[in-house]
Amino acid sequence: MAERRQIVAAWTRDGSLEPLVQGGLTDADCDAMVENAIGKLAIPLGIATNFLINGQDVLVPMAIEEPSVIAAASNAARMIRAGGGFVASTDPPLTVAQIELRGADALAAEKVRAVADEILARSNAVQPQMVSLGGGAREVLVRSDVGDATRIVVHLVVDCRDAMGANTVNTMAEAIAPYLATVTGAQVGLRILTNLADRRLARASCQVPAAALARGDFSGEQVGAGIAAASDFATADPYRAATHNKGIFNGVDAVLLATGNDWRAVEAGGHAYAAHGGTYGPLGTWQWDGTQLRGEIEMPMAVGIVGGASRAHPAAAKCIEITGVTTAQELAQVAVCAGLASNLAALAALASEGIQAGHMKLHHRHTARSQP
Ligand code: MEV
Repeated sequence: MAERRQIVAAWTRDGSLEPLVQGGLTDADCDAMVENAIGKLAIPLGIATNFLINGQDVLVPMAIEEPSVIAAASNAARMIRAGGGFVASTDPPLTVAQIELRGADALAAEKVRAVADEILARSNAVQPQMVSLGGGAREVLVRSDVGDATRIVVHLVVDCRDAMGANTVNTMAEAIAPYLATVTGAQVGLRILTNLADRRLARASCQVPAAALARGDFSGEQVGAGIAAASDFATADPYRAATHNKGIFNGVDAVLLATGNDWRAVEAGGHAYAAHGGTYGPLGTWQWDGTQLRGEIEMPMAVGIVGGASRAHPAAAKCIEITGVTTAQELAQVAVCAGLASNLAALAALASEGIQAGHMKLHHRHTARSQP
């Protein structure tokens, strides 16, 4: 571990991994972060290697208690590197707040649309810092398709720059709700962000040549075709899609936890997005053309590198530093790439020797340690 620390420390600004060695939090930090604190729970933090994302080498910090996930992601990233690495992109960092109005009449939606500029101005007035950083409220959408005919829901679309944005948009939503009630004559209902962050999607794709997929007694062609068949299975069956997506979240959540992000929010958004066509489906898919495997992932990725634990938790801040990202959008790309790699690793094993062979080998290290 000492040797690994030395290598990774060289990727940081101050050449030190101190917060990771210590775990990052004092009792006083814990007491300030949550209520009724009595201690802290440590989770191992490892580095997934071989990630080449948009032409850049990236060390990917992953916090996870499950054996074999980090090795599997590193192994899959090596296969993907053989095909040129990941190509990743994101939407602008738009987070959306919902303001529900109840008891609205037929003209309410039009009345809100007519004052959209005033809504944006009032929203930005309560978050001047976000505006000064280049973000702020951008768009007002009004929905009257949400169940009850007297309910309208106003979506306030906010550019949150490098923040996840929950606090920003919730503050805006609460600030403008009374104005919306006055404009429409309706009553204010809920005022809160939506975690179905479909204006903040992150995407990654990759190609893997057959030679990089060969393993054990299985040819690259067999594994590639098997992975594509597994992808089809997930598309056809929500029971399989849930497990397929669990494999994706093995990578995504581990990066989010390591970097102090709200993984529950991303999980909620990811699963809602996986069902957006009306049936729950896979967030990542794979196609085999006979010589190359092509993989793609697209999912909501509302993450931040400022605000919340990503700054307040010294170990999370250190992990963000290790990735080398300078924007929330770049961190979102790293997270989806970790998700796609974890998915590939799981499907490659499932399409060949099965998951237990590799998983149990690493798992045994753990059980050996827990023997008295
Ligand atoms: C285990 O953590 C994840 C897998 O079940 C994912 C999958 O089945 O695709 C192996």
